[in-house]
Amino acid sequence: MKGLSSGDSALQKVRAAKEALTHVESNMLVGLGSGSTAHYAIEALGDLLERGELTDIAGVPTSEASGALARKRGIPLIDLPAGGVDVAIDGIDEITPELDAIKGLGGALTREKMVAASASMLILIGDASKAVDRLGMKAPIPVEILPFGWRRTQTDLEALGCRPRLRQVAEQTFLTDNGNYILDCFVSPPIDAVQLACALALQPGVVEHGLFLGMAQLAYIATAETVRTYRKGERR
Ligand code: A5P
Repeated sequence: MKGLSSGDSALQKVRAAKEALTHVESNMLVGLGSGSTAHYAIEALGDLLERGELTDIAGVPTSEASGALARKRGIPLIDLPAGGVDVAIDGIDEITPELDAIKGLGGALTREKMVAASASMLILIGDASKAVDRLGMKAPIPVEILPFGWRRTQTDLEALGCRPRLRQVAEQTFLTDNGNYILDCFVSPPIDAVQLACALALQPGVVEHGLFLGMAQLAYIATAETVRTYRKGERR
């Protein structure tokens, strides 16, 4: 990519995105993730369609922004069907070698999780800054909540051991594409991610949380030198 060095995180994201696209074949239904890395994947998918290297592709976007980009790039879009998608490609905020991830700093976690859970194959992509040994080291866990009674939900999440902060952007409360709020839950690793995920899922007022545990089959993490492959069940 012009003007970018191999240590540049944008170039790393592009390389990871292109690696993920090697799993996309003609006639597939593709889950289109959200965020800057997923946007590179959507651009690259658009290029493949434009060049005729892939045909009869349709996409399921996980956010309004990804849908807008996909439409611009000529990718036909459909709503998530009962049978799910063939492959979903999405970015991450953190990922461990075991393929457990935190997602949702872009606020699209609920649709991302629905599409990811429906996918025959989920591929997560990111630059080297996203690789961590333990979840919660760099990123908070975004939790989408109903605006109704949000202060009570915040108190409930505090009781689970998190430090939840209502997401604000430009001094306004951030609204998801679903019209909900986000509580960014800061934690002190090590955490029992499975236990926390279960507790969050059971919490009234919580729509979805950004812990994506054991969902991906594959991840491509680009460093300055190479693109690392993480495979589910593979010991590292
Ligand atoms: C969007 O809600 C998120 O889950 C993104 O996938 C995640 O924040 C990664 O974003 P970047 O690719 O922009 O770092």
